[in-house]
Amino acid sequence: MRENPLVLHVLGARPNFVKAAPVVRALGELGVRQGIIHTGQHYDALMSDVFFADLGLPDPVANLGVGSGSHAKQTAALLVGLEEVVLEHDPDLVVVYGDVNSTLAAILVCAKLGIRTAHVEAGLRSFDRGMPEEVNRIVTDSLSDLLFATSPDALSHLAAEGVPAAKVHLVGNPMIDSLFSALPSLDPAPVVARLGIPARYAVATLHRPANVDTPEAAKELVSAVLEVAHQIPIVVPIHPRGRTRLAEAGLVDGPSVKVIEPLGYVDFLSLVRGAALVVTDSGGVQEETTMLGVPCLTVRPNTERPITITHGTNRLVTPALLPAAAGKALSDGAATPSGELPPLWDGAAGPRIARVISAWLKGDNLSPAAQGVRSE
Ligand code: UD1
Ligand code: UDP
Repeated sequence: MRENPLVLHVLGARPNFVKAAPVVRALGELGVRQGIIHTGQHYDALMSDVFFADLGLPDPVANLGVGSGSHAKQTAALLVGLEEVVLEHDPDLVVVYGDVNSTLAAILVCAKLGIRTAHVEAGLRSFDRGMPEEVNRIVTDSLSDLLFATSPDALSHLAAEGVPAAKVHLVGNPMIDSLFSALPSLDPAPVVARLGIPARYAVATLHRPANVDTPEAAKELVSAVLEVAHQIPIVVPIHPRGRTRLAEAGLVDGPSVKVIEPLGYVDFLSLVRGAALVVTDSGGVQEETTMLGVPCLTVRPNTERPITITHGTNRLVTPALLPAAAGKALSDGAATPSGELPPLWDGAAGPRIARVISAWLKGDNLSPAAQGVRSE
């Protein structure tokens, strides 16, 4: 390995920023030279800039500005932009996060250039290849050199796909590190006052293509959400993907529905912390509600995060079953089946990841096993 090796983090979408912040901070504390490449997959200030500010992320060394498009167009732009910037910066390791198109493109570019990579949040599987994220997860894990898993189920998925155990480290969940860091600042009261909503309320976030991309799906979902709103006022910070379609399906401001712009990280989690119920199809929100002990109904047929069901407050529901499930959740409150939170979701995932990366960088390109660096 070179003197003073360089680590690049490739980030593009809202959840990437939340997962990367603790890793960047911990690597900084170990004195590792690093930089962020922002692909520009998300570009609205409320989908991007606000997260850099709220999470204390350093400014990117480059922003590729790839923006939106079909999967092919967006991925193609990502590939072209990332190849150029990676060649220019010549990193020793590229770290990618989660399962978005920016993650996939960075892994492909680095694999072809022979640049080593690490994947944070490896091994999650919904076993639903109709989800674009599942395709991204499988390809990313198959090409990564270091794989950081957030939950034990990921280890068996990776083993079943033939990933050598020596590459895999169970480190806990950096998204939960960010939540722990933000916890002292999470106060629902000012957000509730600003929005002019009652103290008892629900929050909904909805952006999965299967829920918002067709008028039929959007209509079914919106009818169910409006029925929930008969039981409790509901705030919907709207992801830009579903803005038009959900509005056309009837999701508009009303006496007990408040449709607002996406919220910044601290405001959003403050709202979630004070909520009686969360309705979502987000990956990250399933995890955050588990840690905050807020009942969560996930409107999806499956989840790549089953630990939020076995060790958390999450339940899967169909749109048809959502209103009744909401009624039950509102009367029962949060209950965790196992009575235990997920292992290693303790706020120290970032430092664990940083220690493995730092040792790996000192290891003359040897595998973690050959360095004696083992799964945590
Ligand atoms: C992406 C990820 C998804 C993740 C989500 C997090 C992929 C395939 N999907 O989905 O896994 O859960 O991010 O939020 O990578 N748009 C804006 N402003 C923005 C960004 C997007 O208006 O700043 C709109 C555009 O109309 C765009 C649409 O949202 O076409 C979808 O954006 P895109 O990045 O393609 O996918 P997401 O649905 O955000
Ligand atoms: N989030 C936010 N503001 C919002 C909605 C979500 O800050 O209005 C945060 C949320 O707390 C979590 C992350 O965004 O940390 C999840 O992103 P998203 O749901 O877009 O993506 P997914 O996790 O589904 O990939």
